Amino acid sequence: MPKAAIATAVGSPLEIVDVDVADPKAGEIRIQMGASGVCHSDLSVVNGVLPIALPAVLGHEGAGTITQLGEGVDNLSIGDHVVVSWVPQCGVCFHCERDEGELCEVGSMASMSGGLLDMTSRVSRDGVPVSVMAASGTFAEEAIIPAIGAVKIDASIPLTAGALIGCGVLTGFGAAVNTASIRKGDTVVVIGCGGVGLNVIQGAKHAGAERIIAVDMVDGKLATAKKFGATDIVNPSTDGDAVAKVMELTGRGADVAFEVIGLGATIEQALQMTRRGGQAVIVGVPSFDTMLSINPAMDLLVNEKQIRGCWYGSSNVHRDVPMLAGLYSSGNLMLDELMSAQISLDGVNDAMANMGSGEIARSVIVF
Ligand code: APR
Ligand code: ZN
Ligand code: ZN
Repeated sequence: MPKAAIATAVGSPLEIVDVDVADPKAGEIRIQMGASGVCHSDLSVVNGVLPIALPAVLGHEGAGTITQLGEGVDNLSIGDHVVVSWVPQCGVCFHCERDEGELCEVGSMASMSGGLLDMTSRVSRDGVPVSVMAASGTFAEEAIIPAIGAVKIDASIPLTAGALIGCGVLTGFGAAVNTASIRKGDTVVVIGCGGVGLNVIQGAKHAGAERIIAVDMVDGKLATAKKFGATDIVNPSTDGDAVAKVMELTGRGADVAFEVIGLGATIEQALQMTRRGGQAVIVGVPSFDTMLSINPAMDLLVNEKQIRGCWYGSSNVHRDVPMLAGLYSSGNLMLDELMSAQISLDGVNDAMANMGSGEIARSVIVF
């Protein structure tokens, strides 16, 4: 029986247990998981910030090898290495046709349901169904996922790197390259330099930003941010108010400010830090009851600022995963540097506890 890390109650550590994983149904595949990153959104489920039906296999940043094909899957083969997309993307719905694959009507429903495309999960324990996070559940030795949620990568790409692409890189790099309108020479601010924020930084650099101001409360995270391309660093706990500091550094404010934590206060700061006509991009996932205080007359009208959300880096995964894997292969995307620790499935609770420490960008479970 495969092992999986499951959440059984909000606030409790994950339990490592044996689970049953049924055969893939039509349009599904079985994956032997190779690696899974531990992302802040996993912790958000444990904390109750992201609500899903429990018990549930957590994990949504994974890559593995296909071991079984469900009926009708003819674009993938047994043995293929695939990155798991936590929004399966059908390619033909209203949103996919408009290049908004991250909003795929088929995949979004599944992603929120705790199950796959038919809203049911293939995982159970002692006959009791166990949900899977985000149509995936990558904290498990085996997973069944929709075939439209798998993107083949070259076998030369390590599965650890593939896993990181699956959430943090698609989200962060995509926020800079797909969601935001960064122009060559722009000044950007990135508030929150964890696994996702570091990818916003390398995406912003790729998009041509000249000045990248990293904001974080932990000096260790800021030191890593510099390695990923930050040109200036601000630690509000020692440097004082982040908005004032960014104004001092830029004169008129940033062209684009990214919030990559998920807090109302820092989202408001992101908007305050942008210049007239600038853009604030929300990447972090706030709790569902978070409300903002915005002055529409000044901020949105007179100063013509934009505030926009960014779901999954506005990514078309079938286009962007191979593109990112190619950048990694040619030495133009830092993925190995993101992986601060390789752990076993048993270490997942410690990895979540360590997320706040300066040394850890991403912990990656290797199966
Ligand atoms: N001001 C500045 N930085 C902060 C603050 C704050 N008030 N609070 C937290 N941080 C920093 C932390 O020090 C950490 O470096 O934000 C960073 C968050 O990083 P991680 O915990 O590694 O989270 P990550 O996986 O990067 O996800 C960030 O994106 O996908 C979403 O759900 C995810 O909301 C989460 C966000
Ligand atoms: Zn994630
Ligand atoms: Zn679709």
